[in-house]
This record gives sequence, structure tokens and C-alpha cells, in this order.
Amino acid sequence: MNQQSIQYQGGILAVIALLTSAALVIANNLTHDAIEQSRLEDLKAFLTQVVPKDYYDNDLVKDTVSLKLQGEAETTIYKGRLQNKVNAVAFEWTAKGGYAGNIKVILGIDRDGKVLGARVLAHNETPGLGDKIEVKRSDWITKFNGLSLENPPVDKWGVKKDGGIFDQFTGATITPRAVVKGIKEALQVFQAHRATILGE
Ligand SMILES: Cc1cc2nc3c(=O)[nH]c(=O)nc-3n(C[C@H](O)[C@H](O)[C@H](O)COP(=O)(O)O)c2cc1C
Repeated sequence: MNQQSIQYQGGILAVIALLTSAALVIANNLTHDAIEQSRLEDLKAFLTQVVPKDYYDNDLVKDTVSLKLQGEAETTIYKGRLQNKVNAVAFEWTAKGGYAGNIKVILGIDRDGKVLGARVLAHNETPGLGDKIEVKRSDWITKFNGLSLENPPVDKWGVKKDGGIFDQFTGATITPRAVVKGIKEALQVFQAHRATILGE
């Protein structure tokens, strides 16, 4: 092989490498955009489940503030406003102590601390036992609607087995206990940081 042909082949290889990298960068950007788009759509779907439409007239997906409410992690607060006044908020909360680890919930609360809606976003609980916390498996999670730290009183925020008002599941108390405790904690944090969360 002469010098010219080696240079030529080297050049071709360099061009191929360049084109491949460019294709990867473009594919990566497109995938990233698609993932972000689907994340926003999922989020919007959950937000509309936990904050009723008549509670806001703004775009609550975009009206956000990030606060450190749970350890070092930032919690994004979605604000629902009616004529610019914050009327409801929604945020994710990590309930600890499930049977198989943390349970991520999203909670909608009105400005006075009443639950408008709660949904489980992610969990690793056992199918058939702990997964009744999902709204597609049972209506258990909807029983939080309308409740606050005054109704029922704080000491009733537990499963029935522990003297509270919430049903446990047959043979599975750990999961609902963790979710009740998590939602109670989220309400307590809302109460303690209400002014900051509402931005007032
Ligand atoms: C394989 C296996 C999986 C289980 N998964 C769950 C679960 O996801 N959630 C739960 O609360 N309990 C689960 N349990 C049951 C718990 O170990 C525990 O017995 C129960 O939550 C206590 O409820 P009880 O006080 O009503 O008996 C599981 C048990 C076994 C053996």
C-alpha cells in the first residue's frame, strides 16, 4: 500500500467517525426531547388528577418554585392560581418505610391545607398485596380527598390497626401505613412552610 492510499483510507475513516458522532448527537438530542415531552405529559396528567380544574386558571405545570422540604432534595411546588392568587399547590413526596422501600406520591392541597387529591407515582410494593395504593387497583388513595390535619385530628392519621381511620389491606399493613404516614408528613410540612410554599 503506498503512502497516498493510506492517507486516503485514513481520511475516509475520519469522515465516517465524524458522521457517526454527529448522528449520535442528533439521535441523543431527539430522544432527550421526546423523553422530556413525555415526562411533562405524564406530569400534567397526574397534576390534573390531584388538583381539580376549577381550582386554577393558570398553567400550573410551568408555575413552579423549588424548595428544600424533604432532606437535601429539592421539591418542585406546582402552583395553581385563580386570578393570580395561589389557590392550590401540588408536589411530590417520598413516603418512607414501604414494604419494599420508598413510595413516591403526588399530592394536591388547597391553600388551607386540605387534600384535593393524592396519587402514587412510583413504588416497588408486591403486586396483589401492596399495590392497592394505585388508583387503577383500588379506590383506597381517593379516601384522602377532603381531609386535613384537623379532619381527622393528627392522632387519627393512621391505619385502623394503629387506631387511625384508614383501611389497611388484608395481610398487608406496611404499605398503607407508610403512605398514610407520608401524606400526613407532607401536610405537616405544608403547614409549617405554608407562607414560603404559597409565596406570600
Ligand atoms: C413475599 C411477601 C411480600 C409481601 N409484600 C407486602 C407488601 O407489598 N406490602 C405489605 O404491606 N405487606 C407485604 N407483605 C406482608 C408483610 O410482611 C407483613 O406481614 C404485613 O404487611 C403485616 O400486615 P398485617 O399486620 O396486616 O399482617 C409481604 C409478605 C411476603 C411474604
